[in-house]
Amino acid sequence: MNILRRKSFDDLLAHTQEKKLNKALGAFDITLMGLGIIIGTGIFVLTGIGAAKYAGPGLMLSFVFAAITCAFVCLAYSELASFLPVSGSSYTYAYASLGEIFGWWVGWSLILEYSVGASAVAGGWSAYFVGILHSCGIDLPKALTAVPADGGIINLPAVLIVALATALLVVGVRESAHVNRILVYVKIGTIFLFLFLAAPHIEPMNWQPFLPYGIHGVFAGTAVLFFAYLGFDALSTAAEETKNPKHDMPIGIISALAICTVLYIAVCAAMTGVVPYPMLDTAAPASFVLEYIGLHLGSAIVGTGAICGLSTVVLGMLFAQSRALYSMSRDGLMPMSLYKVHPKFHTPYIIQIVIGIIVACITGFTPIHIVAETCSAGTIFAFLCSCVGILVLRRLYPDHPRGFRCPAVHIIAPLGFICCAFIFSELSSHTLILFTGWTILGLIIYMVYGRKHSLLQQEGK
Ligand code: ALA
Repeated sequence: MNILRRKSFDDLLAHTQEKKLNKALGAFDITLMGLGIIIGTGIFVLTGIGAAKYAGPGLMLSFVFAAITCAFVCLAYSELASFLPVSGSSYTYAYASLGEIFGWWVGWSLILEYSVGASAVAGGWSAYFVGILHSCGIDLPKALTAVPADGGIINLPAVLIVALATALLVVGVRESAHVNRILVYVKIGTIFLFLFLAAPHIEPMNWQPFLPYGIHGVFAGTAVLFFAYLGFDALSTAAEETKNPKHDMPIGIISALAICTVLYIAVCAAMTGVVPYPMLDTAAPASFVLEYIGLHLGSAIVGTGAICGLSTVVLGMLFAQSRALYSMSRDGLMPMSLYKVHPKFHTPYIIQIVIGIIVACITGFTPIHIVAETCSAGTIFAFLCSCVGILVLRRLYPDHPRGFRCPAVHIIAPLGFICCAFIFSELSSHTLILFTGWTILGLIIYMVYGRKHSLLQQEGK
């Protein structure tokens, strides 16, 4: 069956010799990119809703369960990124291990994670931005800050942040990494400031009852806040732009995940410790907690930090989307005209601009928050395929050297698969229906376009 043809290891490694993209990133850059893309809405928005509606103070356990799942998957990704240091992340791994149709399916699902994710986060960015302007006495007209379905004409701030991030990514990966670095420092500083201000006001009584919605609430909370961990897989899309991917990728991915987990649990403990959990049902819980204890200036500073934090998520997701589609167009599964690198900036500028326009239209004109949970569905599906893919690649290429080997892979990968499958089953039925519709659409496009234009098909493989 030619839809199950695999991309060979040699074909994939030939891409690393092309040297079209700039190799500018080290392990530290990868870690900062990780913190940039992972920490965002999950901590600045979802924590409050997760605690109030799903898990109460037990949301800390939801974070722990999500972290354990991501740790299994992260070990698999670290090996895959060091073994196949090419752009494309899980799309590439699925193509090499499970075959073309799975590669396409994962690549198609990544559009949910990155483009829908970037659109949703840009919407969140706009809400914070409008809120800060409002507290400075500047009120933008609703026509320019809301999508038509919410009574406006266009969500202009959301479009602007997407346009800015796109322009930066076109100009260069080094420049983007530089801006990202500054914004990540501000974001981490903001989180530490929040912890510093909130910690003295923790009342352990607020952690009682710890599991008001029972253990099921903890798992439902995990499905909702899984969005908070989205992004660490995106780091491996930067493999071709990393100086020493076999070494830098695993260090970067694992460090980013570990740091995020510690910060998430600390912030969650502080929020639920300061404010009784039923009151946390707000879109800006960090600011709310500080307001609650009367620290209005601190609240404004944390709001500004959240704007910086959400900017880096938009930047990282647009970057990852372009690299995934770049790989798909290189393989002929997307139009090859997109596979063009700027002669001066060495970035895939056409694809980046096309993505920027699409994401700007989605965030500017559609009520994207309604479908935001489908991002998690797309990502978890990619994780599932990667957990299987690593085992297949161990079988296909047992002797090829790997910069990083996942320890006890025959235990870790199945555990990752089981945990991801469980979280997938906890997603809302509305999300699962949307994901199924998206998958059917993708498979039709593959059958009509991708299968025929695939490079492997052209080469008669
Ligand atoms: N993890 C990212 C966020 O929480 C997607 O915004």
